[in-house]
Amino acid sequence: MNKYNEQIQRRKTFAIISHPDAGKTTLTEKFLLFGGAIQTAGAVKSNKIKKHATSDFMEIERQRGISVATSVMTFEYRGMLVNLLDTPGHKDFAEDTYRTLTAVDSVVLVIDSVNGVEEQTRRLMEVCRMRDTPVIVFINKMDRDGKQPFDLLEEIEKELHINLHPITWPINNGRDFKGVYNLFDKNLLLFTANTKAAGDDTVLIEDLSAPVLEDKVGLSDATRLREDVELIDGVYGELNVPDYLAAKVAPVFFGSAINNFGVKELLDTFVRVAPSPLPRPTNVRVVPPAEDAFSGFIFKIHANLDPKHRDRIAFLRVCSGRFQRNTFYHHVRLDKDVRFSNPYSFLARDKDVIEEAFPGDVIGLFDTGQFKIGDTLTEGEDFFYTGIPSFSPELFKELVNKDPMKTKQLEKGIRQLTDEGVAQLFTQHGGNRKIIGCVGDLQFEVIQYRLLQEYGAACQFNSLPFYKACWITSADPKKLEDFARFKPSNIVEDKDEHLVYLAQSEWFLNTERTNNPDIEFHFTSEIH
Ligand code: G4P
Repeated sequence: MNKYNEQIQRRKTFAIISHPDAGKTTLTEKFLLFGGAIQTAGAVKSNKIKKHATSDFMEIERQRGISVATSVMTFEYRGMLVNLLDTPGHKDFAEDTYRTLTAVDSVVLVIDSVNGVEEQTRRLMEVCRMRDTPVIVFINKMDRDGKQPFDLLEEIEKELHINLHPITWPINNGRDFKGVYNLFDKNLLLFTANTKAAGDDTVLIEDLSAPVLEDKVGLSDATRLREDVELIDGVYGELNVPDYLAAKVAPVFFGSAINNFGVKELLDTFVRVAPSPLPRPTNVRVVPPAEDAFSGFIFKIHANLDPKHRDRIAFLRVCSGRFQRNTFYHHVRLDKDVRFSNPYSFLARDKDVIEEAFPGDVIGLFDTGQFKIGDTLTEGEDFFYTGIPSFSPELFKELVNKDPMKTKQLEKGIRQLTDEGVAQLFTQHGGNRKIIGCVGDLQFEVIQYRLLQEYGAACQFNSLPFYKACWITSADPKKLEDFARFKPSNIVEDKDEHLVYLAQSEWFLNTERTNNPDIEFHFTSEIH
């Protein structure tokens, strides 16, 4: 057994994901209250962008920049060290969320019981499925008149292609919401609004036919609960934890985050069943967390938006071994050794310098521009962590320099911003034309604003008629080069100089695929 095993088993690193407004921020706050990381409700600021405006976004980023602690929230609960990674709420920054999902071992998915499965929920779950990430579902806002629980389960299973397994079961919803029955612990939790601390209003009912149930919820609800539970027991049986860990089944909880109801049940189960740091694939081999040698990768870079301090903070997920302050590590992409004198931890919401970190931890490293998203640090071995793909952007615009005197600043600025993962940069194959790919318009506005504020470079964007980017490969390099030569206006290179085909429409893409059977078209940058 490895000497760090105890540290590894204590850690649970996860993210809460949801469609905006489902209750992610509220649930995060309740978790932190239980974990003692905050003392009062309202301490967690929503990262939601209420107005669709750049200034609003920049203000949030500025606040987050000052308090990067909100990007990773660490707390202790029942002897476990829980690392909760924050994800942006706005859909235009979905890529940032996808990348954060590469750094976690499991997720909690929040679904609004009124709205059911929403657009962002679908996309986020797609990413979880790609990576076989274990998921726990929290169906929120049971205090509102929402959909019926069986209908919700069916909708989630069908739309998100996952099998569900209820752990708690609601008695009504909206104004008639009376509480949840815990099928696992066999107790009834009665609903009281606005409980600040752990709800102790539980009644142990091992035998649901006992008359105490009628006393608590009334005859008709007791009868209905008995019928529901019989049905559920018949269909689902016991939760199979290995199936959850293999992402084959997702436990489900019902509750109301704002009322702190059903949250403790969720958290208790989470710390009991959620995976500790898992082995992770690299381009060479799978690296187990218990390996002695340290390794980790950068999944997020946060710019310091104060132009006087250009340094950035790179977020590193420790994957194996022990990270130590002031120790040289190998930066694989640059093939050079680097060390860090002030690595941050995110414990207790303050930026604390740490001496060491273990698998599952996320640390903040000062970066003067040497990191890109996806970079790997090791103790010398040459490998890099895989599974941090770029997805095709949805909007494409040409970057046009408005001030020829500032060409250098623009070049530097756009490179640094895209290293941070703000957007994807494509360069014309054999040329210098720059095309920026984004998920939403707000990203273009932020780039324009930051290029001007931070680099003094004025630019404008011209829309391009592309709908998708496909990374292209071929077993025959000549065929690939010929294809690129005949399509000069559609072929670009990504930042790693991989060839990318920009398609105007699905029809064009299908035609090219049919006409070029020797060329493979990939929808993510990760090509195996
Ligand atoms: P998000 O981070 O997923 O975007 O959602 P957030 O927690 O900010 O919650 C969105 C809205 O839903 C908030 O109201 C929040 O108070 C409310 N909410 C969260 N959980 C529950 C719940 O269990 N029941 C009910 N009825 N509402 C819930 P808001 O008015 O948009 O925001 P605020 O002005 O209250 O902050």
